[in-house]
This record gives sequence, structure tokens and C-alpha cells, in this order.
Amino acid sequence: MHWPVAFGRGDSMFPKDNNGNTINGDTDFVDTWKAMEKTFKKGKAKAIGISNFSRKETERLLKETEVVPAAHQIELHPYLQQNEACAWFRSKGIHVQQYSPFGNQNEVYSKGQNMGKLIDDPTLVEVGKKYNKNGAQVALAWGIAQGHSVLPKSKTPSRIKDNLEGDFRLEQADLEKLKGVDKQMRFNDPSANFGWNFYIDEDGKVA
Ligand SMILES: NC(=O)c1ccc[n+]([C@@H]2O[C@H](COP(=O)([O-])OP(=O)(O)OC[C@H]3O[C@@H](n4cnc5c(N)ncnc54)[C@H](OP(=O)(O)O)[C@@H]3O)[C@@H](O)[C@H]2O)c1
Repeated sequence: MHWPVAFGRGDSMFPKDNNGNTINGDTDFVDTWKAMEKTFKKGKAKAIGISNFSRKETERLLKETEVVPAAHQIELHPYLQQNEACAWFRSKGIHVQQYSPFGNQNEVYSKGQNMGKLIDDPTLVEVGKKYNKNGAQVALAWGIAQGHSVLPKSKTPSRIKDNLEGDFRLEQADLEKLKGVDKQMRFNDPSANFGWNFYIDEDGKVA
């Protein structure tokens, strides 16, 4: 199963069986996309996009369908920088949106809970001092500097305000420092739950 739409909270919106397991569909994602193209062409959707596609899957979509996805929503942050993949998506005219821009800050992810938090990483914290910003704000500014949209989530008013103030310009020398923190570490891989092997051949994929 695959979802060629940008969506919200993980698997909570998919139907479940009596044991709480996600019921997977068997529709080819290309057919789903073709149905979405119809809504786009009729003007019912202003834009259509994808989420969690590998390059290989996107290549197939581009070959077999007409409308280029407006955006691709993927896990992306300084610990999972995916430079090649992002350059490839951009080269196809697909805008990159970063979900989980704080990496292992999402408490739902089991992976990454027993290590230091990305937003406390000494390099991010150190870079931030120069701008009077915290590590979370530096993580957002890093994404914006790549030309991406960043999608932080918070239910805490002070953090929402902080995150809005993560829209600032990092100097090139600081961007160079931040390149060094990449761990190719992917915190979200729902392959087991969703019966679909996500992110094949992409950075941070653990077989
Ligand atoms: N397309 C997909 O497959 C996919 C997958 C995952 C997520 N998403 C979407 O991406 C968005 C964000 O992703 P996410 O929720 O996984 O990760 P995130 O935004 O990187 O992290 C959210 C966590 O960080 C905390 N937080 C927010 N701002 C903070 C700050 N300034 N300082 C310290 N902690 C802060 C939040 O806590 P509080 O809320 O308690 O403040 C929450 O626990 C959501 O809209 C989500 O729906 C999409």
C-alpha cells in the first residue's frame, strides 16, 4: 500500500482489523495517482502531491502518468539530509516538504529515543548561539536554506512561536558545519505496519 497524498498523523487514518492492524489495500499507486489527476484536471484539487515515495517509485509515476507531483513530503532533517534524493526530486520539478524536521523529537517514533535529540546536537546549538536561536530553530532554518518547506508540529504555544522564528538565514559557513551532522538516520519507517517496503535504496533505510 502506498499513499500518493500528503497526509497527517501516521497510520491512524487507515482502516483497522479487530486486532488493530492496518488493513492494506491492493490498489496500484499509479492507478490512485491517475484518479487524483482527474480531480486535478477538473479543478477540484489545486495541486496534487506524494509522500514517502522512493526515487524508483517516483520514476515509475513520472513515466506512467501525466501530472508531475507538485510536492513530495518526506522525513528530512539534519540527521537525514538525503542530498542526492532531494536534488533528484528538485530536478524533476517536485518541491520537497520536510516532515519530522526535528528528527527524533516525535515521541511516537520508537527509534531514536535512546540517543541525544537532534535539537540538542552540539553543532546545532553552537551555530544557533550566533543568531540567538535554539537548536530547533536552526534545524528549521537548515531546511529552509535547502529550498524546502518545513513542517514542524507543536501543540505548545511558546514552541509554535519559536518555530515561526526558525525562518531566518544561515550563513554559508554555518551550513557547511551542519553538513557534518548528517547520520543518514531515518526515525520513521512504517513498512512493517503498512505491508509496503518503503524507502528502498534511499538513505537511512534499514533492511
Ligand atoms: N507524510 C508523512 O508520512 C508524515 C509522517 C510523520 C509526520 N508527518 C507530519 O509532519 C509534521 C511534523 O512532523 P512530526 O510531528 O513527526 O515531527 P516534528 O515536528 O519534528 O516533532 C514534533 C515534536 O517536537 C516537539 N516540538 C515542536 N516544536 C518544538 C520546539 N521548538 N522545541 C522542542 N520541541 C518541539 C513537539 O512537542 P509538542 O507538540 O508537545 O510541543 C512534538 O513532540 C506533522 O504535521 C505530521 O503530521 C507526516
